[in-house]
Amino acid sequence: MKALTWHSKFDVRVSNVDMPKILNPRDAILKVTSTAICGSDLHLYDGYIPTMKSGDILGHEFMGEIVELGAGVDKSKLAVGDRVVIPFNVACGSCFFCKKQLTSCCDNTNPNAAIPRAAYGSSPAGMFGYSHMFGGYAGGQAEYVRVPLADFGAFKVPEDLTDDQVLFLTDIFPTGYMAAANAEIEKGDTVAVWGAGPVGQFALRSALLLGAERVVSIDDVPGRLEMSRAAGATTIDMSKEPVSDKLMALTGGRGPDRCIDAVGLEAHGMSIDAAIDRIKVATFLATDRAHALREAIQCCRKGGTVSVPGVYGGVIDKFPFGAAFGKGLTLKMGQTHVHRYLPELLKHIQAGRLDPTFVITHRMPLSDAPNAYKMFSENKSQVIKVVLKP
Ligand SMILES: NC(=O)c1ccc[n+]([C@@H]2O[C@H](COP(=O)([O-])OP(=O)(O)OC[C@H]3O[C@@H](n4cnc5c(N)ncnc54)[C@H](O)[C@@H]3O)[C@@H](O)[C@H]2O)c1
Ligand SMILES: [Zn+2]
Ligand SMILES: [Zn+2]
Repeated sequence: MKALTWHSKFDVRVSNVDMPKILNPRDAILKVTSTAICGSDLHLYDGYIPTMKSGDILGHEFMGEIVELGAGVDKSKLAVGDRVVIPFNVACGSCFFCKKQLTSCCDNTNPNAAIPRAAYGSSPAGMFGYSHMFGGYAGGQAEYVRVPLADFGAFKVPEDLTDDQVLFLTDIFPTGYMAAANAEIEKGDTVAVWGAGPVGQFALRSALLLGAERVVSIDDVPGRLEMSRAAGATTIDMSKEPVSDKLMALTGGRGPDRCIDAVGLEAHGMSIDAAIDRIKVATFLATDRAHALREAIQCCRKGGTVSVPGVYGGVIDKFPFGAAFGKGLTLKMGQTHVHRYLPELLKHIQAGRLDPTFVITHRMPLSDAPNAYKMFSENKSQVIKVVLKP
């Protein structure tokens, strides 16, 4: 079968690989009908995530049809022929963390994480197509994929909804929604969102769903800011205006009540911090470029909340912990617990409260995936979300 494989920085290829097989009794084999490229995939493409091996299959946003089930799958929950979406986290459903709906923290799906215990303390859950730090699971940018623990990790979707309408339940809709939920929005709040990529787009729309009075979207990519304005956001083009001054002016000098960092470790920018970050990353003094996060902490009003869906991988130099402490901020973050939010978000889609298809700018065949990665990486204004068809 065909699959998109990673080989090294900026080198991804469509390769012929072996068909996946049932390895464990609760596995299913899924025939992929739609799969998308995520901003998190760019961290792999750009070489920021360690423990990738040449030939690893990428992709953690995918859906399709079940074509085979292991003997141990609960057949009352899943059958051959079911059309399903798959959360990007691999989770067991029965450990301490899964029972608390913290499925991105599952204790059973990544026991041999290639993360030194000294750095993380304990390992996060497994994740499809996302390095050997996250379990080394083959991803779904492929014709077929093995779905472990399928009776917990596959969600049936109604036939009257198209793939495009439900595909983003695998990641970016729950991720934007959890970011807004973590922001603890109260009536009348102003919510500032750094990053107007797919995650920022779903975060600001979710913030409005959860009662924000005003959302402010910060980026320097015109096409993306335009998409934010279409949702009713006030926008700040950080290449043209000083973000902090503008946010203070918009909030009577107090700062936004809730700040969401939907940028993560590959932030760019014009500030001195940004230049220093680049040097520190290049010389291995830090691994992540955190100036969107620093700016969010700096701008957030006293007693406010900073919510971080943007991915960070390692060590951040010059983290303004004193400001966070002094202003009494709440910080919330993490990989999304997709299983937890997926059912309620499916209801929002069915009720027409949010149509996720707004974010799709490109549909391409899987055979063209290397070109799709290049476009998504280099042309952020035109290319916001690419859906691949195997
Ligand atoms: N927590 C999770 O489970 C989860 C899930 C999916 C994605 N993510 C992460 O969310 C982040 C965003 O994902 P995406 O798909 O939207 O990615 P993306 O790369 O398409 O978008 C990031 C946006 O941030 C903007 N940006 C860069 N530096 C900035 C700065 N200093 N200030 C403001 N904006 C800045 C970029 O111009 C870009 O538009 C990534 O780090 C991704 O890995 C996390
Ligand atoms: Zn993702
Ligand atoms: Zn678990």
